[in-house]
Amino acid sequence: MYVCSCFGITEEQVREHAAAGACTPRQIASESKAGTDCGSCVRRIQGLLGRGSCPRRAALDQGEPPFAEAAPLPETASPAPAAPPDPVPVPAPAAAA
Ligand code: FES
Repeated sequence: MYVCSCFGITEEQVREHAAAGACTPRQIASESKAGTDCGSCVRRIQGLLGRGSCPRRAALDQGEPPFAEAAPLPETASPAPAAPPDPVPVPAPAAAA
């Protein structure tokens, strides 16, 4: 069944985006454009995104960190800073006669 008639987005597509990590209507809009035209489908999308439909939100509700710890980046030599650009010559004003 269609949720967003402006873009032809179905409930199934919204659920798929939710399963892939889109937990808010804004995130669903980023993935599918649903809700970005007339906006009449946003409440329906919010309803579909209720508790239990977004695995990431469920993990957050259970106190898990929002993102996995990132591994530290390897030390790399930083490149030399770029030289400032040469100044643009400004023509001297014409002398008054
Ligand atoms: S029905 Fe979704 S933006 Fe119009």
